[in-house]
Amino acid sequence: MNTQDRKFKRTFIWTGLGLVGLFILIQLIPVTHDNPTVTQEIQWNSSETRALAQDACFDCHSNETVWPWYSYVAPVSWRVAGHVHEGRQRLNFSEWDQPNENAHEIIEAITSGEMPLRDYLLMHPEAQLTDEGTQVLAAGLEQTLAADPPIERQGRPRRD
Ligand code: HEC
Repeated sequence: MNTQDRKFKRTFIWTGLGLVGLFILIQLIPVTHDNPTVTQEIQWNSSETRALAQDACFDCHSNETVWPWYSYVAPVSWRVAGHVHEGRQRLNFSEWDQPNENAHEIIEAITSGEMPLRDYLLMHPEAQLTDEGTQVLAAGLEQTLAADPPIERQGRPRRD
């Protein structure tokens, strides 16, 4: 092996070790995997609507998140936890005693295909709504929201 090769090999090994060290270090940054108490779940119009929402939306829009193993491995954990906490802030079916102001965007979020998030569907292909599922969920949510609309905000600071 000539000097160049040896230098290359050494750089390669140290870079690898550096990356492994960095990977181990970032695991020490705390990430919250919480499921706060369900204070008041929305009154679903049917168990079918609930089941569809549970499959497609609950992981980010309820306090019943199923945290997968990769949500414990940084840096993926940061992204997953970010989505869950941001998702809950916008809309939380488990805290219907809070003003869920973004609820009026629900139908559009589903029919436009914006929700469930693309990232999520990569890891949860079963959460992909079929055309029929989209229609049934949208219609069910429309009825659900008509009967149990989000409460009015009362001079509290906006949460989003
Ligand atoms: C992987 C997590 C995740 C899933 C699953 C998910 N959402 Fe979201 N949702 C978010 C995040 C994050 C935001 C806020 C940022 C944004 O809009 O992209 C959001 C925002 C929203 C909003 C507020 C309007 C808006 O566009 O910002 C609505 C309404 C919504 N989601 C509905 C749903 C519905 C209904 C489902 C199920 C069909 C669903 N979401 C599934 C993460 C998720």
